[in-house]
Amino acid sequence: MRKKLCFAIAAAAALCVFPMSAAADSFLTHVLESYEMNAENSYTISYLEQDPYLVNIYEGYGFAKDYMSARGHAYVLEDVAGTERPHPLANCLTCKTEDFTRLVNEMGEDAYSLDFEEVYADAHQNVGCYSCHGDDFPTGKLVLTHDYSVTAIGDDMGDTIAPAIAVCGQCHTEYYFKPENKATNVPYTDIASMDPAAELAYYDEMGFADWVQESTGTPLLKVQHPEIETVLGEGNIHARMGLSCADCHMEKTTTDEGRDFKSHYLKSPLDSEELLTTCAQCHKDTDMAEKVHTLQAEITARETEVGEKLSALKDALAEAVASGDYTEDELDEIRSLHRTAQWYFDWDYVENSEGAHNSALARKCLDTAEETIDEAMGLFES
Ligand code: HEC
Ligand code: HEC
Ligand code: HEC
Ligand code: HEC
Repeated sequence: MRKKLCFAIAAAAALCVFPMSAAADSFLTHVLESYEMNAENSYTISYLEQDPYLVNIYEGYGFAKDYMSARGHAYVLEDVAGTERPHPLANCLTCKTEDFTRLVNEMGEDAYSLDFEEVYADAHQNVGCYSCHGDDFPTGKLVLTHDYSVTAIGDDMGDTIAPAIAVCGQCHTEYYFKPENKATNVPYTDIASMDPAAELAYYDEMGFADWVQESTGTPLLKVQHPEIETVLGEGNIHARMGLSCADCHMEKTTTDEGRDFKSHYLKSPLDSEELLTTCAQCHKDTDMAEKVHTLQAEITARETEVGEKLSALKDALAEAVASGDYTEDELDEIRSLHRTAQWYFDWDYVENSEGAHNSALARKCLDTAEETIDEAMGLFES
């Protein structure tokens, strides 16, 4: 209820700031109503129940306690408050509420280390008009509002990234918190470095780890939803042909008055007759659901295979540490391979399309993870 009210306030505020005709008013109301439909995407599952090996590989980190799949934008605030993962600082609100984005833009990076509960109490709006349009939302102009995205790719979006990809990539991206001041940041500076190998090199160079796992002693990384990376990165098929996130996830809709606009209900293209007609421009009479589901089944089966091997590596390493039979140098060599293998596994696993965005890159990550696990396993004394 609270969120609905605030959407109404946001739309009304637009009218106060930008004097507009009644037609524009009703047009914005249509956009707003389409965005509110994201509440219909409420389905979520526990990844830990679906893939129990995750509890072992994430041991010692919050994701071993609670890891639910993503759902619609209407739930972001509720879900961040409800998670059992620790969330002490306001930086956890970076991708959850436009109110926090405004605060960062007013006070700078100091906002990221404020207390979570204090900032949350004043956050009323989920991901909102401001998140993707700044204060230009009545015109529909796309604007980067997240400071780290502006730094990484420039507020002209580097001239090379379609705005309807760049705005989504502000949150649908891998990120980390800077050790010195807990500010949110991304591990890349352009399209070329939006890549699993380049991002790992970035973290290795700065000596960054999300946590040091107690049983293995490995300084591990936790990847988060690198969607902009798979959409723009090596092996992408569609972005090169000019398709944006909006082209595949936002339907063309018409208001009662006959005006066309992009629905803001962010859908799977498989759930939309209209979006499937976009696919058919190139995929002709292919059954798209079958094409996508076949690919996803292949990738998720590989994830289970590689995830279970990774879990076995973690157990073998923990046992080696406990045995006292290995020198620290020997253990560090295996730990380094463990960190690399887990990075590549996770980079694929946590991407939300399950291989649909870029199956070549998904396969490459899983193959690299598996080769690295095999190499590490070869270092244990038999
Ligand atoms: C300000 C941050 C932010 C921006 C910008 C953003 N998203 Fe999201 N998006 C999220 C978060 C956070 C979730 C997960 C919400 C949850 O599970 O509570 C999400 C969820 C989604 C989902 C549902 C995922 C599922 O598994 O059901 C889709 C689809 C989606 N976003 C697409 C987009 C597209 C397309 C864009 C650009 C037009 C975009 N998002 C821009 C933060 C953002
Ligand atoms: C060529 C079309 C295409 C493009 C471009 C595209 N996606 Fe997707 N996306 C898909 C398909 C297909 C799926 C899998 C849908 C399913 O499983 O039902 C998907 C799944 C997702 C999901 C998981 C939620 C869901 O509905 O399954 C999210 C989140 C998402 N995409 C976000 C993005 C973002 C953000 C961008 C841009 C950076 C983007 N997508 C670009 C086609 C696309
Ligand atoms: C998650 C990002 C996101 C959010 C949140 C968002 N928009 Fe948009 N909006 C877009 C994108 C992307 C497009 C352009 C789609 C395209 O044509 O490629 C767009 C287009 C528009 C347009 C032009 C419509 C058209 O099709 O001519 C208007 C107006 C607009 N948005 C208003 C709003 C308002 C009002 C809100 C808040 C209720 C809002 N948007 C929230 C991403 C967003
Ligand atoms: C501009 C042409 C074009 C459009 C529009 C288009 N595709 Fe594609 N798509 C291709 C081409 C070309 C390929 C590569 C050959 C193939 O796999 O069919 C491809 C491949 C794919 C793949 C396999 C991707 C991978 O990495 O293995 C999926 C999934 C897919 N498309 C889904 C979609 C969906 C869903 C839509 C509509 C929302 C869509 N495409 C719209 C041209 C297009």
